[in-house]
Amino acid sequence: MRIAVYPGTFDPVTFGHLDLVERGRKHVDRLIIAILRNEDKQPMFTVDERAALLREAVAPWDNVTVDVFDGLLVNYAQGVGARVILRGIRAITDLEYEMQMAMMNRKLAPQIETVFLVPSEAYSYVSSRLVREVARLGGDVSELVPSHVARALKQRLGPGGSGILGG
Ligand code: PNS
Repeated sequence: MRIAVYPGTFDPVTFGHLDLVERGRKHVDRLIIAILRNEDKQPMFTVDERAALLREAVAPWDNVTVDVFDGLLVNYAQGVGARVILRGIRAITDLEYEMQMAMMNRKLAPQIETVFLVPSEAYSYVSSRLVREVARLGGDVSELVPSHVARALKQRLGPGGSGILGG
């Protein structure tokens, strides 16, 4: 059974993430989207909210599941029997950070391979951080995230954005 883990913060899930999931899931038997629980950053959505938004988004794909992890990613990957960590490279600017993580993970667990996928160019500029910023400032994110995520952002921020919870 080929199992891959696609880790991240997913605050919130975007069409860029989902494009990657759709590509990645075709190459494995099971793809586990793993949300990091302990984060230094102050997220807009709690880990449970992020998991719920993701689960709704990936519901049509039978070999994709959503989970939450603490601690080292490689320990989590080993625990679920994954030999592959999936990550996306949107642009060259992602590369340095991604290479550092991949090499650190290889140092920690040489048997786990990081595989990079390139999302559709339509989403190469989309990030959760920019989605949060646009939504916070009242901009339209309907082409960047699924409709239930856009609704959740509106609920969190109020119809014109800039809600107090936005930070
Ligand atoms: O979506 P993000 O924020 O770029 O995801 C980063 C993530 C969650 C993949 C990364 O921070 C991570 O794997 N954290 C777990 C801690 C860990 O294993 N650190 C050592 C390897 S760099």
